[in-house]
Amino acid sequence: NSFKLKRISKPQNNLKILTIVMDGVGFTNPNSNITAELSKNQGILPSEAFSLGNAVNAAYTPHLNQLISSSLFRTIKAHGTSVGLPTDDDMGNSEVGHNALGAGRVFTQGAKLVNTAIESGGLFAGNAWKCTVAREELKNGSKALHLCGLFSDGNVHSHIDHLFALIIGAKKEGIKKVCLHLLLDGRDVGPLTATEYIEKLNQFLNKVNSNEFECLVASGGGRTFVTMDRYESDWSIVERGYNAHVLGDARYFTSLLEAVEVLRSEKNYYDQDLPPFVLVKDGVPLGVVEDNDSFIFFNFRGDRAIEITRALTEDNFTPFQRKRFPKVHYAGMMQYDGDLKLPEIFLVQPPAIDQTMTELLSSAGVKQFACSETQKYGHVTYFWNGNRSGKFDPSLENYIEITSDLFPFQERPWMKSAEIADVTIKQMYENSFEIGRINFANGDMVGHSGDFAAAVLSVAAVDLALGRIMKAAKETNTILIVTADHGNADEMFELDKKTKKVVKDKNGVAKVKTSHTLSPVPFAIFNEEALEKNIKLKDNFANAGLSNIAATVLELAGFEAPHFYDPSLISFSEKKN
Ligand code: 3PG
Ligand code: CO
Repeated sequence: NSFKLKRISKPQNNLKILTIVMDGVGFTNPNSNITAELSKNQGILPSEAFSLGNAVNAAYTPHLNQLISSSLFRTIKAHGTSVGLPTDDDMGNSEVGHNALGAGRVFTQGAKLVNTAIESGGLFAGNAWKCTVAREELKNGSKALHLCGLFSDGNVHSHIDHLFALIIGAKKEGIKKVCLHLLLDGRDVGPLTATEYIEKLNQFLNKVNSNEFECLVASGGGRTFVTMDRYESDWSIVERGYNAHVLGDARYFTSLLEAVEVLRSEKNYYDQDLPPFVLVKDGVPLGVVEDNDSFIFFNFRGDRAIEITRALTEDNFTPFQRKRFPKVHYAGMMQYDGDLKLPEIFLVQPPAIDQTMTELLSSAGVKQFACSETQKYGHVTYFWNGNRSGKFDPSLENYIEITSDLFPFQERPWMKSAEIADVTIKQMYENSFEIGRINFANGDMVGHSGDFAAAVLSVAAVDLALGRIMKAAKETNTILIVTADHGNADEMFELDKKTKKVVKDKNGVAKVKTSHTLSPVPFAIFNEEALEKNIKLKDNFANAGLSNIAATVLELAGFEAPHFYDPSLISFSEKKN
């Protein structure tokens, strides 16, 4: 850990490098003429983008178009193995994307680490498993094991196969009762897919349940409304989950399928928005949490797991009032925060992300800046810094959070883009940092709503803010790197995997897509005139991805990139006068 960054050229006066992450703004159709058409006719809305549900191409984005038409523009990979996910069928997500951006190289991520720990048996041999599952009180049936988490195969926060493996492992241990608290997804998978996972689960439970072993569903709710808040955006989400899972306090139903179907129909909800529910038999909740029960949160990703973990483990807990606080044997699938060591007990070791850009820059005495709104604030701090919520050197790291609106973002697709631009531009004029990064949440958060019209506006709002920052960059000696962490708004309708045509229902209506995409993302450098050298993008670098950005940033700032970072995307040459 003793690596020291070296400057290869003396710092240019007030030169700043600012990375702008347009969250969820993927860049598709590289082979179609939409791109060319857009960059030539700024502001002409291509009808093809509309019919494909591509809110990025459909939006009015004169500033992005200006970047696209520059020679310092290309696309880079942001999904699958290029960001440490198990396969190239895995779409990118903010955790793995920001990890790669901040650490300058790719670490094998949670999704794959859990697979490996299950396959090797390591998960069931570890101490965390022993003290959470292999307990006498569970084996003699006096206490229950609770498994709570996101119920899908989205592979962003969790995977249903991991849940099944835990249940089988618990049965093998000889324990008697497992209660499931299931958060319906519809956000990393199709918006109305819960019923498919329920069918899978029911088939699985039919096989696994016996006279000796009972696994049942006890409670649940939609993930954006129940339990899975992040960055303390809205604790009432966690409170609703706590009340349902722990106290059995929410609307009663007699089966998971019934709960989902009734709640969906009442307000035309997508799965992610469903209110909390409790499953009962003869009017009695099936699986409230009692003292000395065991509780595993089976998500591997941390941002939306931290608050419920705190609610279930913290003695002095203030965010909301817990009407009852059973002492449970708690474990997370992973450790969710490496600085807070949260939770203490976890089943799988998280990726050991070290020597991040922030850490290296801090030990080199470089002033840094990070800003986003609440929904993505942790992305440019906690994820960027390798899933650590703290700072390396508070005197050098200036992190500013703009408070997000509360859901639903499709009703305010501009979100806090203007405020983030205000704050950033001020810091640029004050020369308060040398290296910075910001995140615009719009393309992602509005993209997840499945509302195409709102997503078009969300991308336009980001472009407006981008234009203001580009103008300020010219006046403040700032070089911008403009990119995205993964796609989302670029596909608001489901596209057929083979034909790439929009999938339609029997009435000819396009099927809405709420999840991320497999698209590459834009990469642009703006205002290279601020540099004393010429730069160009390296040729023959087809496989470049998000992890190549950190070295690029460091080189632009005049540092030698660490030899263990993935290489930069640029080469330098002397300027001719
Ligand atoms: C979410 O948590 O909102 C989605 O599952 C993933 O979105 P993100 O990776 O863009 O945060
Ligand atoms: Co997202």
